Amino acid sequence: MSGALPDSLPVMERILSRHVTRDFQERPIPEETLLQLIRAACAAPWGGGAHVGRYVVVTANLNLRKIRAVSPGMTGKPSAVIALCLDTGEAEELGLGSGQKTALYLALGAAMQNILLAAQDFGLGGCPIGSFHRGALRILLGLPESLEPVLMVAVGFPTPVDRPKPEPPEPDLSRFTHWERFS
Ligand SMILES: Cc1cc2nc3c(=O)[nH]c(=O)nc-3n(C[C@H](O)[C@H](O)[C@H](O)COP(=O)(O)O)c2cc1C
Repeated sequence: MSGALPDSLPVMERILSRHVTRDFQERPIPEETLLQLIRAACAAPWGGGAHVGRYVVVTANLNLRKIRAVSPGMTGKPSAVIALCLDTGEAEELGLGSGQKTALYLALGAAMQNILLAAQDFGLGGCPIGSFHRGALRILLGLPESLEPVLMVAVGFPTPVDRPKPEPPEPDLSRFTHWERFS
């Protein structure tokens, strides 16, 4: 399959050009923009139709510094961090308990991707952060027992150092795709 895309496939272009940003400018992100990112997160598909994700947006320098201190995976200095949490209490109440947990994590993953893709529209870059100390983050964010911090997304305006993603090698689709049956 050729790497060339037909004209006017903006979503496909966004998906293919997305890359993580770890070098950020020291520049605040307008609150309205951050809210748009949460809006994008809320538009992700949720199993059972109930959105039990909660998003804690952190922008204050001191709070960001404390989060960096407990997050070995956060190498850059983002202007904002969005902590993606699962409201396990509400999930239980809605009957989306232990059996559905995997589906809820997957939904948060979709919310993460929506945030990353939407960020590009606002000139922002982002990086998912899975390497952080759960217990410490709970304390820093004042999360109740029922809120599970699953993932963070670091966001900010990319520095010029943050180069566009080099043209990735075309994936061998036959390696990943199986038609009708696996074998
Ligand atoms: C669940 C998850 C957790 C991740 N955790 C981290 C992390 O802690 N620190 C980091 O720098 N990148 C993290 N990443 C980003 C990946 O390293 C990155 O997506 C990968 O290197 C591919 O680069 P690309 O997204 O630019 O294609 C994470 C990605 C995912 C999906």
